[in-house]
Amino acid sequence: MNLETLLADRLGPAFAAVAGAPVDPVLRRSQHADYQCDAALSLARRLGRRPRDIAAEVLGQVELADLCSAVAVSGPGFINLTVADSALGTLLSTAAVDSRLGVAPSAATETVIVDYSSPNVAKEMHVGHLRGTVIGDAAVRLLEWRGHQVIKANHLGDWGTPFGMLIEHLLDLGESEAADELSVGDLDSFYQAARVKFDADDAFRERAQRRVVALQRGDELTLRLWRLLVAESEKYFLTVYDQLGVLLTERDFRGESYYNEQLAPVTDELDRLGLLRESGDAACVFPAGFVGRDGQPLPIIVRKRDGGFGYGATDLAAIRHRTQDLGATRLLYVVGLPQRQHFELVYAVAWQAGWLSPPARAEHLGFGSILGSDGKMLRSRTGDSIKLVGLLEEAVTRAAELARQKNPDLSATEVADVARAVGIGAIKYADLSTDRNKDYVFDWQRMLSLDGNTAPYLQYAHARIRSIFRRAEIEQFTPTPITVGHPAEHALALELAGFGAVVASVEQTLQFHRLAGYLHTLATTFSGFYEHCPVLRAEDAVRDSRLALCDLTARVLRQGLYLLGIATPDRM
Ligand code: ARG
Repeated sequence: MNLETLLADRLGPAFAAVAGAPVDPVLRRSQHADYQCDAALSLARRLGRRPRDIAAEVLGQVELADLCSAVAVSGPGFINLTVADSALGTLLSTAAVDSRLGVAPSAATETVIVDYSSPNVAKEMHVGHLRGTVIGDAAVRLLEWRGHQVIKANHLGDWGTPFGMLIEHLLDLGESEAADELSVGDLDSFYQAARVKFDADDAFRERAQRRVVALQRGDELTLRLWRLLVAESEKYFLTVYDQLGVLLTERDFRGESYYNEQLAPVTDELDRLGLLRESGDAACVFPAGFVGRDGQPLPIIVRKRDGGFGYGATDLAAIRHRTQDLGATRLLYVVGLPQRQHFELVYAVAWQAGWLSPPARAEHLGFGSILGSDGKMLRSRTGDSIKLVGLLEEAVTRAAELARQKNPDLSATEVADVARAVGIGAIKYADLSTDRNKDYVFDWQRMLSLDGNTAPYLQYAHARIRSIFRRAEIEQFTPTPITVGHPAEHALALELAGFGAVVASVEQTLQFHRLAGYLHTLATTFSGFYEHCPVLRAEDAVRDSRLALCDLTARVLRQGLYLLGIATPDRM
């Protein structure tokens, strides 16, 4: 059930006949009618004809009577379409009995890698990791729902020179002591303490340096201690994922170390391809077309002067593995915007090396920062960076207060469930409803507000619809055919019929704020419907049809929010 596709499939051939070449009849929602098509305007110049004449000729050729109740040329040559109530009724009646709500899987499914979250071992997850984790998780949910084979890749920072000092610090503390500190999430103080010694104590620094060499050599004892650090950190990250309600599991950790064995072969292959160049003492690739501010070519450093491999080399190995071994054709990297250039360089090198050729393509899903009310990076009052866990706990506490105020009848367990759904949902939604390329201001008041484009508003809209069914004492609703008549029914039906098109477009752009905006419009349109159209007080067939519209709205809200990683309690 994709109304837009249905309309476009009729208009497309008519335009093509008039233009003598394929035309994409781009449709959009309009203030003047249900849909508007502007294709005649862009065609006019090419054909040297008046857009209104083109539009009229197209309308003369196209058969829309079963889908539209009115079709007209307006203004300079827009085609305005009013969708017929009968067509809406048919579409929605089908969607209502479909567990996928009329949204078919993608016609071309593929293997997609979503590289996301990716914190660093023995380092705290800060709010900066929040966005990547939330956006990446929405991508996984939406792409899976569309039928793609999705591989979650948590590219954990688990290798490199800091591990020398971290392991030595672990030995100083004693293993069980260190494990305790790490498993309760005291990652930052662990890291800081190691750092302080590294900077101040020559003997410690020497030990740390020897330890890095031992680690790279594969010394058994050193590896065992390294594994301990990784395991304790992973255990802690999993508790954060659990609290956040994201899909990442222990099976999704694919740390940088996973690619160690592949680094030498990757370097050799780059060398054989003639791409590797010595620069200083490092082996680099300078992909064509990349220059820095100083006008000098920009490198990806493959092997560093000390013989170790860098972050870039690991990403090259990962890309090669993902396309060649895993057969992925869509590679998504959900990482903050400051790493944009890094990824552009990696993609360019991978392309030159032949590891990233069509149909495979890589996309950096960058995102902006989370700001405090002062417009600067969000920090605690003491100026430290804020621990993610603290933020999540506060969200749930605040949401619990809200839940108790809103509905004093809820039991303690219900309050706890609602608080978690609303608190975590509010944080996720504040993030996902903003264009990810922009920064956003973290604002408790706004994100927890019951009005406006917020998670609580949408969750409440959903729960309110469910309460209609409780009042009617309907436990299991079996959808009956939907008939659309009243203008408010028409408006709601039109929104519902647009779900598939929104999902299909977000599948391409991964602009989740478009899905958020859609859900918000759907919920406000439902309010209008509920205000003007009695449901339980309506008669027989009208009542059944309206109940079916209510049910479908609740299910679309629920599914849409699920795709954003947000839970929808039945009662609030
Ligand atoms: N661990 C890195 C960081 O915290 C992010 C890794 C992103 N993914 C990647 N394939 N490089 O900055």
